[in-house]
Amino acid sequence: MRIDGQPETLSLADLYAPIAADLQHARRLLADELISDHAFTSDLCRHVGQFHGKMLRPALLLLAAQAAGGVRPEHPVLAAVVELVHLATLVHDDVLDEADIRRRAATVNRLWGNQHAVLMGDFLYSHAFHLCSSLQSQYAARVVGQTAITMCEGEMMQVASRGNLALTEREYMDIIARKTAALVETCCHLGAQYAAADEATVRRLRDFGHALGLAFQIVDDLLDLTGQEAEVGKSLGRDVYEGELTLPVIHALRTASPGERTRLTTLLGQPDTTPLPPREGLAEGRTSTALTGARSASDPRRYRQIAALLRESDSLAYAESVARDHVETAKSALADLPPSPARDRLSAMADFVLARRQ
Ligand code: IPE
Ligand code: IPE
Ligand code: MG
Ligand code: MG
Repeated sequence: MRIDGQPETLSLADLYAPIAADLQHARRLLADELISDHAFTSDLCRHVGQFHGKMLRPALLLLAAQAAGGVRPEHPVLAAVVELVHLATLVHDDVLDEADIRRRAATVNRLWGNQHAVLMGDFLYSHAFHLCSSLQSQYAARVVGQTAITMCEGEMMQVASRGNLALTEREYMDIIARKTAALVETCCHLGAQYAAADEATVRRLRDFGHALGLAFQIVDDLLDLTGQEAEVGKSLGRDVYEGELTLPVIHALRTASPGERTRLTTLLGQPDTTPLPPREGLAEGRTSTALTGARSASDPRRYRQIAALLRESDSLAYAESVARDHVETAKSALADLPPSPARDRLSAMADFVLARRQ
């Protein structure tokens, strides 16, 4: 514990220490999937494979396995599968959100355009299911299949809700449960299930993953308003730009005085005025590169003004407190698991999710 009473947040390397070798194995399996004998597809694979994210989902799957009985040969395969599903959704999501930056690099849609990004997302999903079907048991394929369906529904609901100022907190939670918590829960579910854990243990780890996923997305939405692009490594301000209401905005619209509400709805309804940056990298034959000096297409002044208003109305603090509640729920789901370094890391992961700036 730190002296200010807040739990100490460990680095990702510390968090992943008990499963470092298995995670490395999963990374190799993932790299094996990002291969094509078609030169152009191979360029896209190289780009997607070159810029790494936090690997949170594979790590959760492996830690859940270890906390539930031990890592078995299926687990690194499953860890690669969930990261492939995650990658596919990111590539598609960046099309939906018209995002330019992901993992400190140019998005596929920015470099190659939406058509190739849609196909690359499909390529990644297909690899996920192909790899998953290499396992003897079909259990994971069914669970991952259902999860991908749920995630599509979540993204679909979010796109359908764009511009809806009447979106309720319950509707928002339903969206994020599907688009984000479903996969995080599945990671913990498959980790435990393939460790041959008993039903109660699988349930506890699923509950942990679900609550963690909700907290993760609430924090992600806060970072979209208050984060620094250089630190977060992806385009920010996208929710405001696309007219997607997130928890602090929903809270402010519900609780603000009529004057504040008018200010907020005016800001939310304003078109962005910043001219789009030139779209580099769309020329034929461009090979993948990190994005240098490109800006996101949203107007930072507008979402910064919105963030300031949300801070004044305590709506940022409200969203943070809801995320904290879910982190506590997640941690309490671990209480009845046998003590182990993996269980401790899962608990610390929940603190990381709340404190993260990237
Ligand atoms: C981003 O997830 C997408 C959301 C569900 C918010 P991560 O923040 O885990 O992305 P990477 O894998 O580290 O890039
Ligand atoms: C990420 O959603 C995609 C899924 C969860 C399927 P967001 O649009 O909220 O996340 P970022 O901010 O682009 O990573
Ligand atoms: Mg997005
Ligand atoms: Mg999105």
